[in-house]
Amino acid sequence: MSLAQRRILLGVSGGIAAYKSCELVRRLRDLAAEVRVVMTEAATHFVSPTTFQALSGQPVRVSLWDAQAEAAMGHIELARWAERIVVAPASADLLARLAHGMADDLLTTVCLASAAPLYLAPAMNQQMWAHPAVQANVACLRQRGVQLLGPAAGEQACGDVGSGRMLEPGALRDILLASFGTGALAGLRVLVSAGPTYEDIDPVRFIGNRSSGRMGFAVAEAAVRAGATVTLVAGPVSLPTPTGVTQRIDVRSAAQMHAAVLAAAREADIYVGAAAVGDYRPLEVSTLKLKKRAGTPLSLKLDENPDILASLSAQPAHPFLVGFAAETHDVAGYARGKLERKGLDMIAANQVGDGLGFEAPDNALTLYWAGGECELPRTAKPELARELISRVAERYRAARP
Ligand code: C5P
Repeated sequence: MSLAQRRILLGVSGGIAAYKSCELVRRLRDLAAEVRVVMTEAATHFVSPTTFQALSGQPVRVSLWDAQAEAAMGHIELARWAERIVVAPASADLLARLAHGMADDLLTTVCLASAAPLYLAPAMNQQMWAHPAVQANVACLRQRGVQLLGPAAGEQACGDVGSGRMLEPGALRDILLASFGTGALAGLRVLVSAGPTYEDIDPVRFIGNRSSGRMGFAVAEAAVRAGATVTLVAGPVSLPTPTGVTQRIDVRSAAQMHAAVLAAAREADIYVGAAAVGDYRPLEVSTLKLKKRAGTPLSLKLDENPDILASLSAQPAHPFLVGFAAETHDVAGYARGKLERKGLDMIAANQVGDGLGFEAPDNALTLYWAGGECELPRTAKPELARELISRVAERYRAARP
């Protein structure tokens, strides 16, 4: 992985997350990118320009009216120099000024004067992020083709918990890497299924499972970061589409997921089946709400759902297939069995129960493939998904050079 000779302009606006952008500069420099930093005046209250100057090895610019700096590299040259502009952190104020096309300081002026793709990594208090004014500005910027990266949810510097944390420097670096087509899955099309399926019994009841969809969504996001074009087929979940996913298809039942995945798989190089697909569906779906009959046991007849992975592997030309296996015991035995039976290239197995797996924010996986295995230790699902994707990329390149 290299960003040699890539020219990245980092904009820093006023927010405590500015300290994390120092790390971002280091991460970009580690990959040999050329980095120039433009700070808003507010940002200098959080981190000194000297810090960014030392890390980037280049003079840092703050003011539009610095005659000496303008004589060296004027703001228009700076705007032309940049191949990518990433503003991290992007404060509520900066989003507002950009949404309105203002050019009242050097950073906003450079953003307006540049044809380079613009990436914004918002960071602010969760209440501010949720404010309709901020959301309207974000929607307007998105519509203009600006890429919004994050924010992530979690604990905030102000003590609140919610959406508004800046994405981690490693994640921002990966997104920039992928944007230059240099990720591990560059040029490949990845299809991911995620979440549960709901099998309707009547208009108000269904049989479902406890999948939150978080693992599959994290896999989709990691694939985007690795440079893939990603299609996500999602069961009923309440999760936002990860930034950069090209197409999201929402489904409800296993049959709908089966149809959506088989259609999309024709255009995919890799399929990761992270969905927890219901194995059975009611043989008959009542159009009217079933009424309780006290004292009489109710039995439901269930029919088996088709196996999506097995259907794919039965086709002569099919994508590289990655399945998941959530098991309560004998994880290795059952996972290897599924690898064989379903005709998979790789399976990611995890132990469920005791607070692990479903609905949990973190997970651990063991990957199995014909002739090999590897452990991915317990960590947050986004991190785990990145590890998984990097192994999938390795195996894919080995299997289909
Ligand atoms: O057999 P089991 O449901 O444990 O296998 C899990 C794996 O198989 C997951 O990758 C899941 O997405 C996939 N699966 C499928 N179609 C089904 C059931 C499971 O593709 N009907």
